Amino acid sequence: MGRLGGKVALITGGGMGIGREAALLFAREGARVVIADIDAAAARAAAAAVEAAGGEALAAVGDVALEADVARMIAEGVGRFGAFHVLYNNAGVLWKDRDRSVLETDERWWDRVMAINLKSVFWVTKHGIPHLRRAGGGSIILMGSVSALAGFTRAQDAYTAAKGGLISLGKSLAIQFAKDRIRCNVIHPGIVDTPLQAPYLTEALRREFAAGIPLGRIAEPREIASVALFLASDESSYMTGAELVVDGGFTAA
Ligand SMILES: NC(=O)c1ccc[n+]([C@@H]2O[C@H](COP(=O)([O-])OP(=O)(O)OC[C@H]3O[C@@H](n4cnc5c(N)ncnc54)[C@H](O)[C@@H]3O)[C@@H](O)[C@H]2O)c1
Repeated sequence: MGRLGGKVALITGGGMGIGREAALLFAREGARVVIADIDAAAARAAAAAVEAAGGEALAAVGDVALEADVARMIAEGVGRFGAFHVLYNNAGVLWKDRDRSVLETDERWWDRVMAINLKSVFWVTKHGIPHLRRAGGGSIILMGSVSALAGFTRAQDAYTAAKGGLISLGKSLAIQFAKDRIRCNVIHPGIVDTPLQAPYLTEALRREFAAGIPLGRIAEPREIASVALFLASDESSYMTGAELVVDGGFTAA
Protein backbone atom coordinates (compact mmCIF):
# COMPACT_ATOMS: atom_id res chain seq x y z
CA MET A 1 0.00 0.00 0.00
CA GLY A 2 2.78 2.48 0.77
CA ARG A 3 2.92 5.06 3.54
CA LEU A 4 0.14 7.14 1.92
CA GLY A 5 -1.92 4.29 0.48
CA GLY A 6 -5.55 5.30 -0.17
CA LYS A 7 -4.92 9.01 0.33
CA VAL A 8 -5.50 11.89 -2.07
CA ALA A 9 -3.14 14.85 -1.68
CA LEU A 10 -3.36 18.39 -2.99
CA ILE A 11 0.11 19.83 -3.51
CA THR A 12 0.15 23.52 -4.37
CA GLY A 13 3.20 24.62 -6.31
CA GLY A 14 3.74 20.99 -7.21
CA GLY A 15 5.15 21.83 -10.62
CA MET A 16 8.68 22.60 -9.45
CA GLY A 17 11.15 22.40 -6.61
CA ILE A 18 10.08 20.89 -3.30
CA GLY A 19 6.46 20.47 -4.44
CA ARG A 20 7.44 18.46 -7.51
CA GLU A 21 9.67 16.23 -5.41
CA ALA A 22 6.79 15.77 -2.94
CA ALA A 23 4.40 14.84 -5.75
CA LEU A 24 6.75 12.09 -6.91
CA LEU A 25 7.42 10.88 -3.37
CA PHE A 26 3.78 10.96 -2.23
CA ALA A 27 2.73 9.06 -5.37
CA ARG A 28 5.49 6.49 -4.85
CA GLU A 29 4.03 5.93 -1.37
CA GLY A 30 0.56 5.28 -2.77
CA ALA A 31 -1.12 8.70 -2.79
CA ARG A 32 -3.03 10.05 -5.74
CA VAL A 33 -1.83 13.62 -6.19
CA VAL A 34 -3.34 16.83 -7.48
CA ILE A 35 -0.55 19.11 -8.64
CA ALA A 36 -1.90 22.66 -8.42
CA ASP A 37 0.37 25.22 -10.05
CA ILE A 38 0.17 28.54 -11.88
CA ASP A 39 2.71 27.26 -14.41
CA ALA A 40 0.69 24.98 -16.69
CA ALA A 41 3.71 23.41 -18.40
CA ALA A 42 5.40 22.64 -15.08
CA ALA A 43 2.21 21.18 -13.59
CA ARG A 44 1.65 18.95 -16.62
CA ALA A 45 5.28 17.84 -16.74
CA ALA A 46 5.23 16.95 -13.04
CA ALA A 47 1.97 15.03 -13.45
CA ALA A 48 3.44 13.20 -16.45
CA ALA A 49 6.54 12.31 -14.40
CA VAL A 50 4.34 10.89 -11.63
CA GLU A 51 2.37 8.83 -14.14
CA ALA A 52 5.55 7.65 -15.87
CA ALA A 53 6.71 6.34 -12.50
CA GLY A 54 3.48 4.36 -12.15
CA GLY A 55 1.51 6.83 -10.01
CA GLU A 56 -1.71 8.75 -10.52
CA ALA A 57 -1.68 12.54 -10.83
CA LEU A 58 -3.85 15.39 -12.03
CA ALA A 59 -2.41 18.71 -13.15
CA ALA A 60 -4.66 21.58 -12.00
CA VAL A 61 -3.66 24.98 -13.32
CA GLY A 62 -4.41 28.16 -11.40
CA ASP A 63 -3.26 30.90 -9.04
CA VAL A 64 -3.37 29.95 -5.36
CA ALA A 65 -3.89 33.62 -4.47
CA LEU A 66 -7.32 33.61 -6.14
CA GLU A 67 -10.31 32.02 -4.44
CA ALA A 68 -12.03 31.08 -7.69
CA ASP A 69 -8.93 29.29 -8.98
CA VAL A 70 -8.40 27.41 -5.72
CA ALA A 71 -12.06 26.38 -5.52
CA ARG A 72 -11.91 25.15 -9.13
CA MET A 73 -8.63 23.23 -8.65
CA ILE A 74 -10.02 21.50 -5.56
CA ALA A 75 -13.23 20.67 -7.43
CA GLU A 76 -11.17 19.23 -10.29
CA GLY A 77 -9.28 17.06 -7.82
CA VAL A 78 -12.46 15.79 -6.17
CA GLY A 79 -13.96 15.21 -9.62
CA ARG A 80 -11.01 12.99 -10.56
CA PHE A 81 -10.19 11.23 -7.28
CA GLY A 82 -13.38 11.65 -5.19
CA ALA A 83 -11.82 12.95 -1.95
CA PHE A 84 -8.98 14.82 -0.24
CA HIS A 85 -6.98 13.69 2.80
CA VAL A 86 -3.89 15.93 2.56
CA LEU A 87 -3.63 19.65 1.81
CA TYR A 88 0.04 20.47 1.29
CA ASN A 89 0.26 24.27 1.05
CA ASN A 90 3.63 24.41 -0.60
CA ALA A 91 3.34 27.18 -3.23
CA GLY A 92 5.35 30.26 -2.42
CA VAL A 93 7.40 33.01 -4.01
CA LEU A 94 10.64 34.67 -2.97
CA TRP A 95 11.24 37.85 -4.96
CA LYS A 96 14.39 39.38 -3.54
CA ASP A 97 14.37 42.10 -6.21
CA ARG A 98 10.87 43.42 -5.36
CA ASP A 99 10.38 42.25 -1.76
CA ARG A 100 12.95 44.02 0.34
CA SER A 101 12.88 46.25 3.40
CA VAL A 102 9.58 47.97 4.23
CA LEU A 103 11.39 51.17 3.25
CA GLU A 104 11.90 49.96 -0.33
CA THR A 105 8.96 47.67 -1.17
CA ASP A 106 5.99 48.77 -3.31
CA GLU A 107 2.54 48.03 -1.90
CA ARG A 108 1.67 45.98 -4.99
CA TRP A 109 4.55 43.53 -4.37
CA TRP A 110 3.83 43.41 -0.64
CA ASP A 111 0.22 42.47 -1.41
CA ARG A 112 1.14 39.91 -4.08
CA VAL A 113 3.73 38.16 -1.88
CA MET A 114 1.24 38.05 1.00
CA ALA A 115 -1.51 36.76 -1.29
CA ILE A 116 0.59 33.89 -2.67
CA ASN A 117 2.41 32.95 0.54
CA LEU A 118 -0.31 33.49 3.17
CA LYS A 119 -3.77 34.22 1.76
CA SER A 120 -3.49 31.09 -0.40
CA VAL A 121 -3.75 29.02 2.77
CA PHE A 122 -7.01 30.80 3.60
CA TRP A 123 -8.45 29.70 0.24
CA VAL A 124 -7.04 26.17 0.29
CA THR A 125 -8.30 25.49 3.81
CA LYS A 126 -11.64 27.22 3.29
CA HIS A 127 -12.38 25.03 0.28
CA GLY A 128 -10.36 21.98 1.27
CA ILE A 129 -11.30 21.36 4.92
CA PRO A 130 -14.89 20.33 4.08
CA HIS A 131 -13.40 17.49 2.02
CA LEU A 132 -11.02 16.44 4.82
CA ARG A 133 -14.02 16.40 7.18
CA ARG A 134 -15.96 14.26 4.73
CA ALA A 135 -12.99 11.86 4.56
CA GLY A 136 -13.02 11.52 8.36
CA GLY A 137 -9.85 13.54 8.93
CA GLY A 138 -6.65 14.57 7.27
CA SER A 139 -3.39 16.47 7.34
CA ILE A 140 -2.73 20.11 6.48
CA ILE A 141 0.90 21.03 5.90
CA LEU A 142 2.13 24.61 5.76
CA MET A 143 5.49 25.72 4.37
CA GLY A 144 7.09 28.22 6.69
CA SER A 145 10.73 29.21 6.54
CA VAL A 146 13.61 29.76 8.91
CA SER A 147 13.22 33.43 7.96
CA ALA A 148 10.05 33.43 10.08
CA LEU A 149 12.08 32.24 13.06
CA ALA A 150 15.26 34.24 12.69
CA GLY A 151 14.62 37.09 10.26
CA PHE A 152 17.14 37.72 7.49
CA THR A 153 19.96 40.22 7.45
CA ARG A 154 19.02 40.93 3.80
CA ALA A 155 15.43 42.06 4.39
CA GLN A 156 12.53 40.36 2.57
CA ASP A 157 9.85 41.79 4.82
CA ALA A 158 6.69 40.63 3.02
CA TYR A 159 8.03 37.05 2.68
CA THR A 160 9.14 36.99 6.31
CA ALA A 161 5.83 38.40 7.57
CA ALA A 162 3.81 35.96 5.46
CA LYS A 163 5.81 32.99 6.73
CA GLY A 164 5.42 34.25 10.30
CA GLY A 165 1.66 34.54 9.77
CA LEU A 166 1.54 30.88 8.74
CA ILE A 167 2.80 29.83 12.17
CA SER A 168 -0.13 31.52 13.93
CA LEU A 169 -2.69 30.41 11.36
CA GLY A 170 -1.36 26.85 11.62
CA LYS A 171 -1.90 26.78 15.38
CA SER A 172 -5.43 28.13 15.01
CA LEU A 173 -6.28 25.52 12.37
CA ALA A 174 -4.76 22.76 14.51
CA ILE A 175 -6.89 23.67 17.52
CA GLN A 176 -10.12 24.32 15.62
CA PHE A 177 -10.14 21.14 13.59
CA ALA A 178 -8.58 18.62 15.98
CA LYS A 179 -12.09 17.42 16.82
CA ASP A 180 -12.48 16.53 13.12
CA ARG A 181 -9.24 14.50 13.22
CA ILE A 182 -7.63 17.12 11.02
CA ARG A 183 -4.02 17.92 11.91
CA CYS A 184 -2.04 20.97 10.85
CA ASN A 185 1.73 21.35 11.09
CA VAL A 186 4.35 23.72 9.73
CA ILE A 187 7.70 22.88 8.10
CA HIS A 188 10.44 25.50 8.31
CA PRO A 189 13.04 24.74 5.64
CA GLY A 190 16.43 26.38 5.57
CA ILE A 191 17.95 27.13 2.17
CA VAL A 192 16.92 24.54 -0.43
CA ASP A 193 18.39 24.08 -3.90
CA THR A 194 15.29 24.78 -6.04
CA PRO A 195 14.24 27.06 -8.93
CA LEU A 196 13.03 29.55 -6.27
CA GLN A 197 16.60 30.08 -5.08
CA ALA A 198 18.28 29.61 -8.47
CA PRO A 199 18.30 33.29 -9.52
CA TYR A 200 20.14 34.24 -6.31
CA LEU A 201 22.41 31.29 -5.58
CA THR A 202 25.78 32.38 -6.89
CA GLU A 203 28.71 30.15 -6.01
CA ALA A 204 29.88 32.81 -3.54
CA LEU A 205 26.49 32.95 -1.82
CA ARG A 206 26.27 29.16 -1.77
CA ARG A 207 29.63 29.06 0.05
CA GLU A 208 28.52 31.82 2.44
CA PHE A 209 25.31 29.93 3.31
CA ALA A 210 27.13 26.62 3.67
CA ALA A 211 29.62 28.17 6.10
CA GLY A 212 26.75 29.12 8.43
CA ILE A 213 25.04 25.72 8.32
CA PRO A 214 26.39 23.06 10.72
CA LEU A 215 25.69 20.27 8.19
CA GLY A 216 27.84 22.28 5.79
CA ARG A 217 25.51 22.50 2.77
CA ILE A 218 22.13 23.69 1.60
CA ALA A 219 19.28 21.16 1.36
CA GLU A 220 18.11 19.05 -1.57
CA PRO A 221 14.34 19.29 -2.29
CA ARG A 222 13.79 15.63 -1.33
CA GLU A 223 15.10 16.37 2.19
CA ILE A 224 12.12 18.67 2.73
CA ALA A 225 9.64 16.54 0.77
CA SER A 226 10.44 13.55 2.99
CA VAL A 227 9.42 15.55 6.07
CA ALA A 228 6.18 16.53 4.31
CA LEU A 229 5.63 12.82 3.58
CA PHE A 230 5.91 12.06 7.31
CA LEU A 231 3.42 14.83 8.17
CA ALA A 232 1.03 13.68 5.43
CA SER A 233 1.14 10.08 6.67
CA ASP A 234 -0.51 8.53 9.71
CA GLU A 235 2.99 8.10 11.20
CA SER A 236 2.57 11.65 12.52
CA SER A 237 -0.92 10.92 13.91
CA TYR A 238 -0.20 12.55 17.30
CA MET A 239 1.37 15.69 15.84
CA THR A 240 -0.63 18.84 15.37
CA GLY A 241 0.06 22.53 15.88
CA ALA A 242 3.76 21.74 15.62
CA GLU A 243 6.67 23.22 13.73
CA LEU A 244 9.47 21.14 12.25
CA VAL A 245 12.71 22.98 11.51
CA VAL A 246 14.59 21.35 8.62
CA ASP A 247 17.61 23.58 8.18
CA GLY A 248 20.80 21.57 8.62
CA GLY A 249 21.21 23.12 12.06
CA PHE A 250 21.23 26.72 10.79
CA THR A 251 18.99 28.16 13.51
CA ALA A 252 20.66 26.08 16.22
CA ALA A 253 24.09 27.54 15.50
N1 LIG B 1 13.89 26.91 -1.59
C1 LIG B 1 14.12 27.39 -0.39
O1 LIG B 1 15.27 27.73 -0.03
C2 LIG B 1 13.00 27.53 0.61
C3 LIG B 1 13.31 27.86 1.93
C4 LIG B 1 12.29 28.02 2.86
C5 LIG B 1 10.97 27.85 2.46
N2 LIG B 1 10.70 27.54 1.16
C6 LIG B 1 9.29 27.42 0.79
O2 LIG B 1 9.04 26.17 0.20
C7 LIG B 1 7.98 26.30 -0.75
C8 LIG B 1 8.42 25.72 -2.07
O3 LIG B 1 9.58 26.41 -2.49
P1 LIG B 1 10.49 25.96 -3.72
O4 LIG B 1 11.85 26.41 -3.38
O5 LIG B 1 10.23 24.55 -4.08
O6 LIG B 1 9.90 26.93 -4.85
P2 LIG B 1 9.97 26.83 -6.44
O7 LIG B 1 9.95 28.23 -6.97
O8 LIG B 1 11.07 25.95 -6.87
O9 LIG B 1 8.58 26.13 -6.79
C9 LIG B 1 7.39 26.80 -6.41
C10 LIG B 1 6.24 26.36 -7.28
O10 LIG B 1 5.12 27.17 -6.91
C11 LIG B 1 4.47 27.62 -8.07
N3 LIG B 1 3.76 28.88 -7.82
C12 LIG B 1 4.30 30.10 -7.62
N4 LIG B 1 3.33 31.02 -7.49
C13 LIG B 1 2.16 30.36 -7.60
C14 LIG B 1 0.80 30.77 -7.56
N5 LIG B 1 0.46 32.05 -7.41
N6 LIG B 1 -0.15 29.83 -7.71
C15 LIG B 1 0.18 28.51 -7.91
N7 LIG B 1 1.45 28.08 -7.96
C16 LIG B 1 2.42 28.98 -7.80
C17 LIG B 1 5.60 27.80 -9.08
O11 LIG B 1 5.11 27.83 -10.42
C18 LIG B 1 6.49 26.61 -8.78
O12 LIG B 1 6.10 25.46 -9.52
C19 LIG B 1 7.64 27.79 -0.79
O13 LIG B 1 6.54 28.04 0.04
C20 LIG B 1 8.88 28.44 -0.24
O14 LIG B 1 8.63 29.70 0.34
C21 LIG B 1 11.66 27.37 0.22
